[in-house]
Amino acid sequence: MVSSIISKNDWEDQYRKGSWDRLITSDQPNTVHIAEYCLSLSKKLNRPISIVDLGCGNGGLGTALGNLTVPVASYLGVDISEAALEKAKKIFPQGEYRCVDLSKEIPGEAMEADVVICNEVIYYIPMAPFLARLKKSTSSVVVFSYYKSWRSSFIWAYIRLYFGRIKRYCVSTAKQKWTIVIYEQK
Ligand SMILES: C[S@@+](CC[C@H](N)C(=O)[O-])C[C@H]1O[C@@H](n2cnc3c(N)ncnc32)[C@H](O)[C@@H]1O
Repeated sequence: MVSSIISKNDWEDQYRKGSWDRLITSDQPNTVHIAEYCLSLSKKLNRPISIVDLGCGNGGLGTALGNLTVPVASYLGVDISEAALEKAKKIFPQGEYRCVDLSKEIPGEAMEADVVICNEVIYYIPMAPFLARLKKSTSSVVVFSYYKSWRSSFIWAYIRLYFGRIKRYCVSTAKQKWTIVIYEQK
């Protein structure tokens, strides 16, 4: 069976060492953009929204949602790393958190959520089986982000292959660029 590209133990080490602290200590344009999208979705639906954050890490999106006071009805953060989830819980305690290997399963909550987020996670999970499973596991808006690299055109092609009609945006800092892809159900 195809499994996670970086092992759970490696992720635990990286989060314990603080290798990913920048995701919560400085504004990440991709994450801010996604939180702004959540805010606009909540305004459009005229109610607090339910969010499933796949590969939520140490709480980057929770931080951005809090900063923008996005009306959140429910937030489920899912990650392979328990160390990351412990940090995320402290940052956004109103959320629920679950340790899941996304190369093996996608939580059932993804089906009914208003929005499912895959922020900077797609390159760490075998892409084709993950996208195929995700498409079947949700009837929600799905938001992907990935940073600009040699893999970007492959990622874009794969998302289009599985999800079809999608919107694509770019956000950047002086040093880095990200693509944000939004799939809105018809
Ligand atoms: C670059 S971090 C992004 C974290 C967060 N989405 C953000 O942007 O702030 C990638 C995350 O994917 C998680 N991840 C990697 N492989 C995974 C898997 N197979 N199942 C669940 N989470 C995984 C890692 O633990 C890590 O937290």
